[in-house]
Amino acid sequence: MKTVAAATIAAFAISTEAQFEPLHHLGGSSPWFEGPNVFGISPDAPEGCSVDQVAFASRHGSRYPDTGAYNGWVALSEKIHAQPFTTNASELAFLQTWKPVLTNPAAQIAQISLGGYKELYDMGVDYRWKYPSLYSENEPFVMWANKYQEFGPRVVDSGRLFARGYLGPNATSVGQVYVVNQTDPRSIANSLAPSDLCANYADDPAGNTTTWASIYLPPIAARINSLLSGLNFTESDITSFPYLCGFETQITGSRSPWCSVWTESEIAQYEYAQDLRYYYGTGPGTSLESNLMLPFLTAILQRFADGPNATYASGGPDNNSSFTPNPLIATFANDGQISQLAAATGVFDGHPRLPITRVLANRTYRATNVNPMRGTISFERLTCTSSSPGAYSNSSADGEEQQQHVRVKFNDAVYPVAACQSGPGRSCPLAEYRALVDAKSAAFGDWQERCGNEESERVPVEEARTTFLWDLGLGWLRAVRP
Ligand SMILES: *[C@@H]1O[C@H](CO)[C@@H](O)[C@H](O)[C@H]1NC(C)=O
Ligand SMILES: *[C@@H]1O[C@H](CO)[C@@H](O)[C@H](O)[C@H]1NC(C)=O
Ligand SMILES: *[C@@H]1O[C@H](CO)[C@@H](O)[C@H](O)[C@H]1NC(C)=O
Ligand SMILES: *[C@@H]1O[C@H](CO)[C@@H](O)[C@H](O)[C@H]1NC(C)=O
Ligand SMILES: *[C@@H]1O[C@H](CO)[C@@H](O)[C@H](O)[C@H]1NC(C)=O
Ligand SMILES: *[C@@H]1O[C@H](CO)[C@@H](O)[C@H](O)[C@H]1NC(C)=O
Ligand SMILES: *[C@@H]1O[C@H](CO)[C@@H](O)[C@H](O)[C@H]1NC(C)=O
Ligand SMILES: *[C@@H]1O[C@H](CO)[C@@H](O)[C@H](O)[C@H]1NC(C)=O
Ligand SMILES: *[C@@H]1O[C@H](CO)[C@@H](O)[C@H](O)[C@H]1NC(C)=O
Repeated sequence: MKTVAAATIAAFAISTEAQFEPLHHLGGSSPWFEGPNVFGISPDAPEGCSVDQVAFASRHGSRYPDTGAYNGWVALSEKIHAQPFTTNASELAFLQTWKPVLTNPAAQIAQISLGGYKELYDMGVDYRWKYPSLYSENEPFVMWANKYQEFGPRVVDSGRLFARGYLGPNATSVGQVYVVNQTDPRSIANSLAPSDLCANYADDPAGNTTTWASIYLPPIAARINSLLSGLNFTESDITSFPYLCGFETQITGSRSPWCSVWTESEIAQYEYAQDLRYYYGTGPGTSLESNLMLPFLTAILQRFADGPNATYASGGPDNNSSFTPNPLIATFANDGQISQLAAATGVFDGHPRLPITRVLANRTYRATNVNPMRGTISFERLTCTSSSPGAYSNSSADGEEQQQHVRVKFNDAVYPVAACQSGPGRSCPLAEYRALVDAKSAAFGDWQERCGNEESERVPVEEARTTFLWDLGLGWLRAVRP
């Protein structure tokens, strides 16, 4: 029998867009959900094609707040309870007894939450179900995670929890998560967070978000304050409500009362504020940040070109041994990197720039659908058998012509590459996708020069590229067990 909490989680996980679900419109604060099929493309392998290799980059799972956000919740609670107040609005009645939901802040702050444990374990199982041919029981499994924080290792822990779902009871003995130290000076362009060694990197969307905030927030603050007597919220207080909606729900396993405070149209405006925040912070609206994950994408496509059975001469777990990586390339990082990678894929090339004074209603760029908690960008290598002669990359023994294609998915929904979707299921031929990404890299130019790194901090130009996906001997990798 399901517990109440499990049933509630299932209820918020499966609710559809037919009934507005605020938890699916909170940008980076949304708990994970399967992305909407915006382009109406079947996520299954197209007819005549099979998926024989997959790579994904995932944000860590749902988590507890960081210190600053938690302190904000405590201050909000103190403000609410500083004096008596009244309200006639039933959706605000909970304020009389509200307090932050953390039960053990010292151990919880910045770590993966229970909702995150569930997302990640489920994710591991889902990937086995989706791609049953990519792994069989008790094979060694190697994956990667960005080091992120030394003392709040939510990204590494996300990798470990994914591995437990993917590998099952023997995960600890058969799995290894290679932690990539993105602050080691040798790791320029060769980590899961290369922005950390890019001097010019700045996730600074403010100039493009404050205008919208000054337009959309005052009426919401006025409406909510008009429902209260003896308590008056600032705009800054008010913007924490949708954030609390997302966080409290995944921390406790039941829907947060904050989810009912903003109306549907107000949440839609918050969602747009989150889109502006990512679009102009690390996403397609930037000219530097949107290119920083190109070395990683190039390396994935190199692995796809080498194929699912490739063996690399050295760089295995013993450094000088050969390495045959798993056909599922599993990696974990943070929202900034997922946002940067989404921009690098080419999916949003040609997308209209987001206006900063009004909502662009028909946009396909939505941060919620890219980098919610556990937000995942995956790449499928499709091997398709073609009956028509023409472009093909190889012929199998019985004379059938086979061709490789790539498909990009955001949270399991297919997003075609804007300039390359001629293949089955609007996929992009692998060779064409590699050319497209190479052209982007060439247009970006020298990575370290664009980043403005000091000469003394640079690595030789030929080393500023991603190789950790086939070389485990790099000095800034270290393996941990799931
Ligand atoms: C786990 O590993 C042990 C030792 O190799 C093996 O005997 C056992 O069958 C494995 N368990 C599962 C569930 O695969
Ligand atoms: C990562 O690299 C930095 C810079 O070299 C170093 O100070 C730090 O100790 C390394 N962290 C780990 C976990 O190896
Ligand atoms: C808006 O974002 C773009 C791209 O990052 C940037 O060039 C521009 O300066 C920003 N506008 C303001 C007013 O900060
Ligand atoms: C609540 O309703 C009562 C009675 O109608 C009214 O006097 C009071 O002003 C209302 N309070 C608020 C906060 O709206
Ligand atoms: C309540 O807060 C709003 C800003 O959120 C402010 O404009 C207003 O003056 C405040 N009202 C009172 C009675 O303090
Ligand atoms: C990889 O190896 C497996 C197992 O031998 C085989 O079934 C599959 O066809 C191979 N795939 C490619 C693309 O060579
Ligand atoms: C290769 O690795 C093994 C095991 O780690 C080690 O014993 C051996 O000395 C290494 N050989 C070379 C040539 O580095
Ligand atoms: C949205 O609609 C406008 C025309 O109203 C069009 O120019 C634009 O390309 C559309 N944007 C998207 C993302 O479909
Ligand atoms: C692996 O071998 C290379 C070349 O000998 C060496 O530079 C590197 O430090 C080694 N890596 C590890 C993790 O031992």
